Amino acid sequence: MGLEAKISVLPYYEIKHPEISRIRVFPTPEEAAQAAAEEIIGVVRVNPQAAITYATGDTVIPLYENLARAVKEGRVDFSETSGFHLDEYYPCGPDINEYPHGFVAYLRQRVFTPLGIKNANEMNGLAPDPEAEAKRYDGLLSAKPIEIAILGIGPWSAETQTGCHIAFNESGTPFSEKVHVQTLDPVTLMRDRQERGQDSPERALTQGVANILEARRIFLLAYGEKKGQSLREALFGEIGPQRPASALRLQGQKVTLFIDEAAASQFGKL
Ligand code: GLP
Repeated sequence: MGLEAKISVLPYYEIKHPEISRIRVFPTPEEAAQAAAEEIIGVVRVNPQAAITYATGDTVIPLYENLARAVKEGRVDFSETSGFHLDEYYPCGPDINEYPHGFVAYLRQRVFTPLGIKNANEMNGLAPDPEAEAKRYDGLLSAKPIEIAILGIGPWSAETQTGCHIAFNESGTPFSEKVHVQTLDPVTLMRDRQERGQDSPERALTQGVANILEARRIFLLAYGEKKGQSLREALFGEIGPQRPASALRLQGQKVTLFIDEAAASQFGKL
């Protein structure tokens, strides 16, 4: 390959929005994930002790694969960073055989282990007193300013007019909530049955909207038409607890969306 420099230029455009500072639109999810990974790598290079909150779910898998590759190639070192859990079903433990839908198992497998994160802060989905566990976790978060919160977005139902959760903050949850025990919306439980083939517990532990909005940077990833509908509600619907992701508009200067064209295609159909 000689000394030839390899520069990859990602084709993308930005959508202007009155509150959200950057909405980056890429032709494919792979390109969006790569761009998000490069921004995160850039932050960790400048601040090797950054505290980062990691979402789970399908959307962020390619992002985490990009980060793991960069670590393997020696382009970045996450070992001194701190990792934080965004949400967890309750009850739910780390044993993947017993709880195949669990987020602790997911994070260990896709994030904490491959990135070599030593300080991984997990929510205990088997804590006998979930309210006390929420308090404990909130204390951990308050002790470390979060540099980046990585988020996905939940489904929106036109029928029930509920959805577009961030973490497990469901419609109706006040924006002032910190880490708490959340009753899951029927739309989320149905998504889990239909798309993940699982019967999820009806409750979860989750970082609250207030925790998420405290992060210095918020990166949200969303791909495909269905996620585009959730985003359309969040970005252009009424700001308020009915649309949890609309809270991001209150701190829009911190927010970057990494989305694909299929998601963006839904914004015109208001
Ligand atoms: C999940 C989690 C969120 C995640 C969202 C989207 O259930 N509560 O942390 O961001 O729903 O998941 P997916 O990317 O699989 O659609």
